[in-house]
Amino acid sequence: MSTKNHTTQLSNILVIGCGGAGLRAAIEIRLSGLEVSVLGKRAKTDSHTVLAAGGINAAFGNVDSEDSWEQHFADTYLEGYGIGDALQVEIMAKESPASVNEIDKWGANFAKLDNGNLDQRFFGAHTYRRTCYSGDFTGLSILNTLIKKAERLGILIHDKQYVTELLIKDGTCFGAMSLNTSTFERTVHLANAVIICTGGHTRIWKRSSSRRDENTGDGYHLGLKAGCKLIDMEMVQFHPSGMLLPRDIAGTLVTEAVRGEGGRLINNKGERFMVNYDKERMELSTRDRVTMANYTEILEGRGTANGGVYLDITHKSKEFIMEKIPSIYKQFLETQNLDISKKPMEVAPTAHYSMGGILITPEEHSTSIKGLYAAGEVAGGLHGANRLGGNSLAEILIFGKRSGLASVNYSKKNNIQLHSDMAIKNAHENIDKFDGKGTESVRPLQEYLSNIMWEYSGVIKNQESLDLGLKKIQEIKDIIQQRKIKLDGANCQDLIMALDLESSLTSAQATILCALNRKESRGAHQRSDYPQLNTSKNCNYIVNLNKQTLNLEISERKISPLRNDLKLIINHTSKVSNFEGKLIE
Ligand code: FUM
Repeated sequence: MSTKNHTTQLSNILVIGCGGAGLRAAIEIRLSGLEVSVLGKRAKTDSHTVLAAGGINAAFGNVDSEDSWEQHFADTYLEGYGIGDALQVEIMAKESPASVNEIDKWGANFAKLDNGNLDQRFFGAHTYRRTCYSGDFTGLSILNTLIKKAERLGILIHDKQYVTELLIKDGTCFGAMSLNTSTFERTVHLANAVIICTGGHTRIWKRSSSRRDENTGDGYHLGLKAGCKLIDMEMVQFHPSGMLLPRDIAGTLVTEAVRGEGGRLINNKGERFMVNYDKERMELSTRDRVTMANYTEILEGRGTANGGVYLDITHKSKEFIMEKIPSIYKQFLETQNLDISKKPMEVAPTAHYSMGGILITPEEHSTSIKGLYAAGEVAGGLHGANRLGGNSLAEILIFGKRSGLASVNYSKKNNIQLHSDMAIKNAHENIDKFDGKGTESVRPLQEYLSNIMWEYSGVIKNQESLDLGLKKIQEIKDIIQQRKIKLDGANCQDLIMALDLESSLTSAQATILCALNRKESRGAHQRSDYPQLNTSKNCNYIVNLNKQTLNLEISERKISPLRNDLKLIINHTSKVSNFEGKLIE
């Protein structure tokens, strides 16, 4: 199985990941006249972007004319509990209307009002109706539009390429090594600049809205090995509503659009329980609050027999349901034979989005490695401790484009293709170390890891559970290090899974180490031993891989004070300060 052979491909810029962020970056690069290659490990039509269902936020004020970018900024920053990057939030709030108009014109064809303007629906914790949408398949519309645009521009998208290593010389990235997921063939991709758009790591929890073999944390591992830092890995968003049944697809997303269009959460006593958690915003409270509410109802015995709560939209007509949330209607009919216009759905929290990620600069999304950029879910910092639904699709378009442009400028200024035989040799060795002669199969170890993360680092955690989780993760790491992995020599999938498992384990360790350090509860990070928000923890946790010891090291970084003009915006726009002003220093 092992070979030192590879083919070599050249482009000005390499994009790793062919979801929305990767494609938007590639389009910008091509429009600037440079050659770009895009690598994806899944089929390009099936990236994780398709699972951002309910919509994309832009403060047009088409339905609620009082809306403004300032209000979008304030909602996002405050609901991120003051640890999000204010400049990233500001850029997103200001630039999303142009991005949404652009993608709509390119063919996304969002829902329109009678006057031709884009329709906007409610999403949780947005002060106004701000979420533009295509039914409940907005991510899919955006992805298909980007693929068509990329194809019209002649952009090369290579499917089935699993990237194993970023190639680095003297602190500068000059390409990547990839492995074909069906043939074992290796390719060295040489480029002046590289953009990582590989998504997050929420598949490593047992109940997850990600599908098999996506969002496994490979981008974080690539980044750490290259010398990047990660930020706030403990901030993992659990979406309030994942499917419970059938068991083999448990965790599959039930879009927030259901609640945005009037869906109600009910416990086994028939109570609309959100009244006890956020009586003003009810089901349209923030994701962290709705998730905690669902979790608490289930934990305290007011859940359904299957361990969930009810999500009920039966008070709406079937025509309304078919117009606004057709995919969810089909999803329940096909998988449970359940007509949601007649009976309520059963839902429970599911791991949904990694809010932490690679530490990048807010404007360009450059990393601490020269020539290396990161955009989309793999990048950290925008959402702080809680992401508002609908902001991720805005994020991928805006920062995909910005990182593409920044990589073009960099590439034009540094048009010398670096090369290092040593870096390429190391990349080969990091694949070859899996000689496949061990005794442990990979899939059960992946399975075991996802149980560990759910049990010990799930919706609520504490020192004891996190310590135990860390210990168990180290045990799996030891198995890998002692070469006990058994691989099918004729089937490339085993090798890819082994590489993926290694990335998942490192991402899991980074997550738990950050969670151990954050001794408080804030947004998505809930600790039963530190149940209160602690303002002395208005900080980010930064993860670094020590190349000598191979240990992950965590440091604390204080949040910089908000710019005065942004403080004023917050003071003018906040109707309710959940934080009694304590986060605004
Ligand atoms: O619920 C949803 O449709 C998810 C959207 C998002 O995560 O932004």
